[in-house]
Amino acid sequence: MATPSSEARVIAAPLRVAHIAAEHSQLAHTGGLGEVVTGLSQAQSAAGHQVTCVLPGYRELLARLDGDSRGAVIVGMPWGGVRFERIEAVRDGVRIIALSEPGWFDRGGLYGDANGAFGDNPVRFVAFSRAAAQLVAGADVRADVVHLHDWHAGLVAPLLEEVCPRPARVMTIHNIAHTGAFARAAFDTCGLPPATLHSDGVLHWDRINPLKAGLQYADRITTVSPTYARELLTDEGGRDLAGLLRHRQQDLVGILNGLAIEEPRGQRQRTALCDRAELSPPDGPLFAVVSRLAEQKGIDLFIEAVPPALEQGAAAVVLGTGDAHLTAALNRLQERFPGRVRFWNHFDPRLARDIFAGADVVCVPSRFEPCGLTQLHAMYHGALPLVRRTGGLADTVVDVGDDGWGFCFDEASASAMAHALERACRLYGTKRWEAAQTAAMAKPVGWAEPADAYVDLYRAIVNEPSAA
Ligand code: GLC
Repeated sequence: MATPSSEARVIAAPLRVAHIAAEHSQLAHTGGLGEVVTGLSQAQSAAGHQVTCVLPGYRELLARLDGDSRGAVIVGMPWGGVRFERIEAVRDGVRIIALSEPGWFDRGGLYGDANGAFGDNPVRFVAFSRAAAQLVAGADVRADVVHLHDWHAGLVAPLLEEVCPRPARVMTIHNIAHTGAFARAAFDTCGLPPATLHSDGVLHWDRINPLKAGLQYADRITTVSPTYARELLTDEGGRDLAGLLRHRQQDLVGILNGLAIEEPRGQRQRTALCDRAELSPPDGPLFAVVSRLAEQKGIDLFIEAVPPALEQGAAAVVLGTGDAHLTAALNRLQERFPGRVRFWNHFDPRLARDIFAGADVVCVPSRFEPCGLTQLHAMYHGALPLVRRTGGLADTVVDVGDDGWGFCFDEASASAMAHALERACRLYGTKRWEAAQTAAMAKPVGWAEPADAYVDLYRAIVNEPSAA
């Protein structure tokens, strides 16, 4: 069908896109959120758009950014004006603006430290969201599209409601388990517009809920895989926001994350990994877990399911930090299987990469997983993924029994996982294994394609007649 030339011109025009988020993988991050913000913004910039990332000026972020001061954004709080300094730099074609307020962000840790989450997180991120909203609507950035990531940026959506012309607002859910909700009584300390304090605004079950506010006011809602988008519509998947998400179902779409590959694929290095782990190379598969040690990630299933495989000649390495009871259980597993299990209790992206390149199987037994990047990294480096079939894991891994390249199980139980581990042990060393490895390595895609999908979505909003 012929496209009128005027329309073609509109569609081809570069957009001014502002991502607002709490993490960036090169500057300050704790997990997949930062990887996505970085990969997506760089790909959109490479495609010719004018892309800005607005981030909190954490201590570690400012140390890495090495940016220049470009004035300030003043946010009116009930006790007076709070000054956020704008520190700017350009990274891989993306304009990075860090909003720095030392009282809230010049500390060790992003959201908390060894004593737990920071008690002032609500006010920190409300104030950050207010400064970010002012910035992206202002003359300097003047975004066509404001893309908000997770609860930290959710309040930007209602804050832009009265701005004219109003930018398109896209809210991405990376993980609905975190909403940033806090007591209604704190509303007065936040300086949010009083008109937003109602159940179709920032209130949810009598609490202020930043993620809900984002979902309520955004023009479109996205999440990071098609299967998770469907799961979000169920009571179990969408939790207490399922009703709102069902109501906005027409505006919800799942776009699978890409993989931001920073290092080229190297040789497989199983022996080197075994040496480093002080394990003698096993006859069976070398299993690995690289994960936050949390309930969501199903680490307890792994701990319960893996012993029979270890007894039959497999070995395992685990890298991660998190819940104390899982840490203790992994230490016990290591003691019970000397020379067969190695547990590294820290967060180390380089070691993670070496594990993906050395392990035979990387296990991701998550109870829920919006997308999951671990299985993609594992596949890229030639380790087969063993996953629970949920969220983005279901969208990226096909079982070897269906001519795929991984091992899938459905029920969130140790016995279902043990069965998958056993299937991996049986297949290990066969020709079929090699074919699966080749297929796995060919699968992960970069960011160009998903970045285009987001841009198509942005354009649909920008070109909507109702857009201000
Ligand atoms: C969150 C999700 C994870 C997803 C990541 C990036 O960390 O738990 O599944 O891959 O965000 O979108």
